[in-house]
Amino acid sequence: MEQKRIINVSNRLPVKLCRVADELILQQSEGGLATGLSSVFNNYCSQWIGWPGAVVVPEHQNSTTMELNERNLTPVYLSEEEIANFYEGFSNDTLWPLFHYFPSYSNYNEQYWRSYVAVNKKFADAVVNVARPGDMVWVHDYQLMLVPSMVRAMAPDITIGYFQHIPFPDYEIFRALPWKAELLKGLLGADIIGFQTKADVRHFLSTVRTVLSMTPNGNKELVMGGRKIVIEAFPISIDHKKFHDLAKEKATDEHVQKVKAMGDTKIMLSIDRLDYSKGILQRLQAYELFLKKHPEWRQKVTLVHLIVPSRDNVPNYKKLKEEMNRQISQINGTYSVFGWQPIQHFYQSFEPHMLAALYKIADVAIVTPLRDGMNLVSKEYVACNVDQNGVLLLSEAAGAAAELTDAILLNPNDTKDFANKIYEGLTMPAKEKKERMQRMQQVVAEADIFQWAERFNERMTETDNEKKRPQQT
Ligand code: F6P
Repeated sequence: MEQKRIINVSNRLPVKLCRVADELILQQSEGGLATGLSSVFNNYCSQWIGWPGAVVVPEHQNSTTMELNERNLTPVYLSEEEIANFYEGFSNDTLWPLFHYFPSYSNYNEQYWRSYVAVNKKFADAVVNVARPGDMVWVHDYQLMLVPSMVRAMAPDITIGYFQHIPFPDYEIFRALPWKAELLKGLLGADIIGFQTKADVRHFLSTVRTVLSMTPNGNKELVMGGRKIVIEAFPISIDHKKFHDLAKEKATDEHVQKVKAMGDTKIMLSIDRLDYSKGILQRLQAYELFLKKHPEWRQKVTLVHLIVPSRDNVPNYKKLKEEMNRQISQINGTYSVFGWQPIQHFYQSFEPHMLAALYKIADVAIVTPLRDGMNLVSKEYVACNVDQNGVLLLSEAAGAAAELTDAILLNPNDTKDFANKIYEGLTMPAKEKKERMQRMQQVVAEADIFQWAERFNERMTETDNEKKRPQQT
């Protein structure tokens, strides 16, 4: 199929500006979206528009823009006030909790909303500035739900795709939003709206039906002013080969040796951004119960607990950090002996070889969000577990659970069952571990990030060609 120019638009660029000493330097951004899309960017997209992750004073914006432009990146600069109201506010203090089924954490604040509208307009203007005739636009995620209709208003013929990386909630949750119709109409500016799972698609369609009285046609498309809008599930994935190869590199094995030197215990691994949707406290409770019920496992297993700092200016994240630290200290305080502690806690980011080393040697990976759009950590673990001797404990509330059915699936709120499943994971026979891991690796290798991007882009290109085909009279 003919390759068209695609402009990628997401809140974050794949790089972020970080202050080191007195200088701003560029570093890789964390998080599923930035990591995943970085792998496919060069193959599919010619420009990436997004926020560079820090405040840049006006006198430095020209030079920063030039540096980013050299990498085909176009920055949208946010002021302190916009970071507080658009990013930490409406995006992460209103939409994020609501879409992850934490309605009581959502703040409905008019100032947040006004900033969200204004910043979405900034992004839409940046798109229209960069777009050339014939380009297609691919908008990502909940921070930019108004961008599709704003771009459409300025460039009516452009083909626009939108992909939501986080869940789309049930109508009964979504209805709480004072701006629900505005957000839906914002999205309906797109020609293709993609979600992670079929359940998200179902929730979206029933919400559109209830709020806007629109029903899909026989092809499951919505029609608005004569324009068709495709709504479909596109489960995102990872660059399986990149992770698989990384796990076999010498530098990874050097880290493996370092981790092994920690002591001769089984290793359980959890890796998450600090986020209440990740089920961090529920996992600690289950581990504590496991240690209580199975004294024979004390000193024989270590939980390597890696938490990547995130959104620490949002009050609910601060509270979570305090509670997490309290629980870790209680478990370590109760069960530690000289030479062993049950939890090795890290509150930092690790470089790729270290991550691959942990994935490679972890006997059990515990990926148990309370709600997650997909969860790419689970897929990274599978790709890096090259010796096929690991077990994945996966929450049934992660989008990945629909594909990784050979994981031990569990409900993170069911502490007793969770503790039993930790035991099941640690004692699973080698043959069963290998068979399950082989099947999961096949799933992730076949449906990788390239296949995901290919499918989405094919759908956008089909729509674009269809729109440009002369109409039969
Ligand atoms: O899709 C969720 C997401 O926006 C991803 O980009 C990423 O995994 C994570 O949240 C990072 O969030 P933030 O940009 O707020 O650090």
